[in-house]
Amino acid sequence: MMHTSSIFVVAALVAHAAAVGVSGAAEGFAKGVTGGGSATAVYPKSNAELVSYLGDSSARVIVLQQTFDFTGTEGTASGSGCLPWGTGSSCQVAINQNGWCQNYEPSAPTTTVSYDKAGVLGITVASKKTIIGVGTSGVIKGKGLRIVSGASNIIIQNIQITNINPHYVWGGDAITVDGADLIWIDHVKTSQIGRQHIVLGNGASNRVTISNNEIDGTSTWSATCDGHHYWAMYFTGSNDLVTLKGNYIHNTSGRSPKVAGNTLLHAVNNYFSANSGHAFEVDAGGNIIAEGNAFNNVKAPIDTSVKGQIFTAPSSSLSACTSALGRACQANVLTSSGAFTGTSSTGFFTNFKGKNIASASAASGVAASVVKNAGVGKI
Ligand SMILES: *[C@@H]1O[C@H](CO)[C@@H](O)[C@H](O)[C@H]1NC(C)=O
Repeated sequence: MMHTSSIFVVAALVAHAAAVGVSGAAEGFAKGVTGGGSATAVYPKSNAELVSYLGDSSARVIVLQQTFDFTGTEGTASGSGCLPWGTGSSCQVAINQNGWCQNYEPSAPTTTVSYDKAGVLGITVASKKTIIGVGTSGVIKGKGLRIVSGASNIIIQNIQITNINPHYVWGGDAITVDGADLIWIDHVKTSQIGRQHIVLGNGASNRVTISNNEIDGTSTWSATCDGHHYWAMYFTGSNDLVTLKGNYIHNTSGRSPKVAGNTLLHAVNNYFSANSGHAFEVDAGGNIIAEGNAFNNVKAPIDTSVKGQIFTAPSSSLSACTSALGRACQANVLTSSGAFTGTSSTGFFTNFKGKNIASASAASGVAASVVKNAGVGKI
């Protein structure tokens, strides 16, 4: 027979589990991702527990309900650096990592740097993990997350990553994916980062969905020395299918995103705002359909040098998307922004065939809905 106390325990567990489950499901290329699946939730209470749960070989649902502050935990590094972007107090400083200053900016003034070591390399996330925050309480400070070496089936939802050496380029990335598959990054807010907010490195990261996130580029220091962070998103994988949907990408000044390598990107219903430089940088190997996005106060929605392909859904050719997406594209809307003129080749559309494709809504409603829905504490 069941004791009354056991019934209470069961009821409490059910209530708890319901409160911390993954919200919704990935749309687009990473559709089907399950992360830690139905594993019993764990609630790390210390940095060491968090690192252990993220990196071990068990399928896990890891619930974050506090701030994990890594700043200072690995000490301070001092060394040389350079000032390629100017000597003003609002300019970022580059760490001379692996001789970067001599190799790439030999004429830049040099300086000394002192930065937090913990920020440089993110916490390793192994396969089959769900990482979810409760409300707005799940925060990782001073260190990012790193998904590499073939890790697969990972969900990161409703957490914040912040304060990773924002003064210093090469001071660390918020989320690194480099050699992976089935990754879903959803309702995450990143802010105050040294290098990239989200980087899909040169390895094959296969199927990735990046949805409903807030990329907040507001910073005291930037490579454009104007409070707008330059290094927002960098997608250069060797075999990457990336769905970028419903994100709020604001107060940046470049690489929002940069796309190259061999990346097929579907950028849909994002809201780009207050960008003092460029949004899309399209390098060789980047193949992009950008539809249903809203741009407001974005100086250059696309950088002048385009070496890859980007279809920007001009109103006269919306039906061209049917061969790729199974439906017509939605037009983009631009206010107080530069032109968003892409390339005309649609030869790469065939690469979308047979893949999971995210839906699109009219761009006219995107700014309001994205501001309301993207980032932490909204699910
Ligand atoms: C973002 O940038 C805009 C203009 O570029 C500025 O008006 C706004 O204050 C910035 N937001 C923050 C939070 O700094």
